[in-house]
Amino acid sequence: RVVAVIMVGGPTKGQPMVHHPISACKRIPNLAQIYLIGFYEEREFALYVSSISNELKIPVRYLKEDRPHGSAGGLYHFRDLIMEDDPSHIFLLNCDVCCSFPLPEMLDAHKRYGGMGTILVVKVSAESASEFGELVADPTTNELLHYTEKPETFVSDRINCGVYIFTPDIFTAIEGVSTQRKDRANLRRVSSFEAMQPDPRILPANYVRLDQDILSPLAGKKQLYIYETNDFWEQIKTPGMSIKCSSLYLAQFRHTSPHLLANGDGIKKAGITGDVYIHPSAKVHPSAKIGPSVSISANARIGAGARLKNCIILDDVEIKAGVQKMLLLVMQLLDGNPLLDYGHVSRQASGDYNAKLGVTILGESVTVEDEVVVFNSIVLPHKTLNVGVQDEILL
Ligand code: GDD
Repeated sequence: RVVAVIMVGGPTKGQPMVHHPISACKRIPNLAQIYLIGFYEEREFALYVSSISNELKIPVRYLKEDRPHGSAGGLYHFRDLIMEDDPSHIFLLNCDVCCSFPLPEMLDAHKRYGGMGTILVVKVSAESASEFGELVADPTTNELLHYTEKPETFVSDRINCGVYIFTPDIFTAIEGVSTQRKDRANLRRVSSFEAMQPDPRILPANYVRLDQDILSPLAGKKQLYIYETNDFWEQIKTPGMSIKCSSLYLAQFRHTSPHLLANGDGIKKAGITGDVYIHPSAKVHPSAKIGPSVSISANARIGAGARLKNCIILDDVEIKAGVQKMLLLVMQLLDGNPLLDYGHVSRQASGDYNAKLGVTILGESVTVEDEVVVFNSIVLPHKTLNVGVQDEILL
């Protein structure tokens, strides 16, 4: 048996993007459970988790940490629950990556290598590699020889994709890091006055990072191996990247599941251009022009004459008649965390891809009236827009 764990961390990611790693787990043979581990309020996730569980016909559970324990510490925190199914293998996925998730292929490779863990790896440009974990592997055995997280000087253009498979021995490795930290803290306490003024740079014993604390020290010890993918891979840290990733997934559907695309059967449909996904429960007026790269989620309603291009329309969103939405991302802002989304805006301004996009985020229950164009703006929940908006944040 195999279980999959997706590290969702804090809020702001947006359900459409988490949906892809979760659905990708469906292809794992003998999958018993999918766990999502995060440290934010369960309430927002509860409905989503039960609906995806029904859709995939696999038990999916959200496990909430009382506070962040780090990417490996979070996994360790729930070790007893995860081991209940007595899995031989555990997949671990970051929630904010976009790729083809070659999970069954990774499992086969991992069994051949016979180590404790196998990391999905991709080659990126030398300039962008420093934003990720850079690594060196043996070209013949695929053993991980060297690993550095976001190094200042160039190490390698092969990077960690944030998708892993481990044997349950990973728990022993994480426990080792915690124990070592506790021992060091005790040593300091008896040998100095430091106990009075704890060093803020020293991490708590149960805060364990997968990359720095586990992958780096275990490289070159015949325990970790890599599986390199030649498919697409992107990290999603901004709303703009969600749009790019949505179009990558739509393009992938063309090969893997063309029946999901509005024009997938090769028969041209009026008003639809390029890759377009429309959830069966969404209602799109026949006079609307949709595409390319549009994904329309459950129960959305698209009015007469609307034009949508390069956008994600979330559940229950209504786009009224005649609205032009080019390069629009409609995303539900999660309650109580608008600040994190502003964080994304400032990052957008510096990132090329996002700056060019002119992404718009409409909060929950925002109404855009007829003929109103919204461009490169963020609108917080429950507003009604009756005049055009460009480059603004409406509080
Ligand atoms: N539940 C939980 N608790 N999840 C966490 C926590 C935590 O305390 N801390 C981080 N995560 C989750 C994040 O939501 C994300 O899915 C994943 O763990 C990794 O997040 P970070 O540790 O912030 O690392 P990063 O995203 O900057 O970089 C990692 O991923 C890159 C690929 O996208 C590194 O592993 C890089 O080496 C890698 O290239």
